[in-house]
Amino acid sequence: MTIRCAVLGLGRLGYHHAKNIAAHQVSGAQLVSVADPMEGRAEQVARELGLETWTKNPDEVFEDPDVDAVIIVTPTSTHADMIKQAAKHGKPMFVEKPLTQHIEEADEIIQTIKESGVICQVGFMRRFDPAYAEAKRRIDAGDIGKPLYFKGITRDAGSPPAAFIKHSGRMFLDVSIHDYDMARYLMGAEISAVSAHGRVLLHPFMKEFDDVDQAITYVEFDSGAAGDIEASRNSPYGHDIRTEIIGTEGSLFIGTLRNQHVTYLNHKGSHYEIIPDFQTRFHDAYRLELVHFIHCVQHKQTPCVTEADGRRNLQIAIAATESFDSGKKVKIEGGSPG
Ligand SMILES: NC(=O)c1ccc[n+]([C@@H]2O[C@H](COP(=O)([O-])OP(=O)(O)OC[C@H]3O[C@@H](n4cnc5c(N)ncnc54)[C@H](O)[C@@H]3O)[C@@H](O)[C@H]2O)c1
Repeated sequence: MTIRCAVLGLGRLGYHHAKNIAAHQVSGAQLVSVADPMEGRAEQVARELGLETWTKNPDEVFEDPDVDAVIIVTPTSTHADMIKQAAKHGKPMFVEKPLTQHIEEADEIIQTIKESGVICQVGFMRRFDPAYAEAKRRIDAGDIGKPLYFKGITRDAGSPPAAFIKHSGRMFLDVSIHDYDMARYLMGAEISAVSAHGRVLLHPFMKEFDDVDQAITYVEFDSGAAGDIEASRNSPYGHDIRTEIIGTEGSLFIGTLRNQHVTYLNHKGSHYEIIPDFQTRFHDAYRLELVHFIHCVQHKQTPCVTEADGRRNLQIAIAATESFDSGKKVKIEGGSPG
């Protein structure tokens, strides 16, 4: 059965998801509609992708009986409303991270999803990246023994505009949340305490939103392991995503700066192209996470990364933000590793 999908929000990532579906890169999915309130945006994307239906009003998508599932890629501050609408109209949903910005709101959402019986997958796409998946396989097979230390580096080549930062929920929620998810997933343990620091190094406009462009979170796991997670919007050389896991019997290093397996050499030295942005680095993962979502919709299965992971990762990000604001270590109760 083909799942007729609509993409809500056609910015940096929504456009990418829409193109993937329209180009038949997501098996079992058909793009039938797009929505974005920005003047002309939905129409422009619909024309480019050969769609007959577009709208400035997301409500029309939720009410459309020809839409079987929705892909929510709107600004973070709108996720809660979008999720409630999708649940109310019985539409299975894929929603970008973070689930929302507040724990009370996350609890409300989880209850609404439960009552509606629809599935919800949250966009922690690194779980679908082939390199991270291989690392997970090796850890589960015992190849590195007991995981002791997690190091995560996420450096963006630049900052999104102020309009995005304003609705992003600040650095720990917007960026480090990917590494909190990977830390829990790969270490097979819950983060039980965080100490977070950060500073504006390059983008003074962020001060207006109490945000930073460089941050670090020291994390403690309930297994006794530890780790550190760097987030930056200041990388002058490209998009840099690397992870290390140190175990008792071996270690795993995930990620590379190389965009292609080509090294150019001349009398001045050697050069290779560096990954420019997140769309390039995670192209496979963005596609594979939607393949998984569509499979779950078709077969009425629970996705492997749900609103429960969304809530836990949110809880960690909120604790990190609180630690940054207070200058104190913050403990986190409960949870079970995803
Ligand atoms: N998983 C990842 O790696 C990743 C990467 C980037 C962004 N994201 C997430 O995706 C979401 C969108 O981020 P982005 O970078 O694409 O943002 P963006 O600012 O580039 O685009 C957002 C788009 O949504 C539209 N929009 C605003 N309100 C809307 C509404 N009510 N209904 C429909 N559309 C609406 C805007 O007009 C804009 O075109 C955010 O929640 C962000 O955290 C995830």
